[in-house]
Amino acid sequence: MKKYAPYFALFASILYLPSGQLQAEENRVQFPDLDELVHYTTVRRGDVMEHIMTTPEAMEAVEEGRSIPYGTHFVLVDHRDGELYRYFVMEKGEGFGDDYDTSRRTDDWQFQWFWPDRSINTDENTARCQSCHRRQASSDYLFTGYRIPRFDGSPVE
Ligand code: HEC
Repeated sequence: MKKYAPYFALFASILYLPSGQLQAEENRVQFPDLDELVHYTTVRRGDVMEHIMTTPEAMEAVEEGRSIPYGTHFVLVDHRDGELYRYFVMEKGEGFGDDYDTSRRTDDWQFQWFWPDRSINTDENTARCQSCHRRQASSDYLFTGYRIPRFDGSPVE
């Protein structure tokens, strides 16, 4: 934590706008190469359709009950009325958790919201993502990881 403290303070001062509204931050999440990911499940809710994908290595780790390796991305490709609407991305990296204090931390996962052109949604505060996904701490912060063992080549519905 010490190592990042000055950087963190600077960030906080930039982000904390006069309006008092906490704005989105860039963080360490990079947009992944989607061609390397496996679409393992689809979630449908009304006009929403989510394609959820990750690496073969992460799927193997989940199946074998090992912890998910560093360098893993999970991507939720969110469609509305059949059109690409946004990408939600989680990335696990060594030391990623050090950027946050313990009340916010989600192990070494960071979260980001990308628009279809892959720019970051600067209106989103990713603390919100973390606070909801913390409920899933016992499942490596994943909501749909339990579906991975049921994947047999076509996305689990
Ligand atoms: C209010 C709770 C909540 C918030 C806030 C939230 N998520 Fe999720 N997330 C879920 C649920 C529930 C799922 C499972 C899919 C579904 O039911 O839509 C999910 C699934 C995911 C997945 C697929 C992997 C998995 O966990 O199954 C990613 C990636 C993801 N979310 C990223 C994000 C990002 C990035 C943000 C913030 C921009 C975010 N989430 C905010 C509840 C939340």
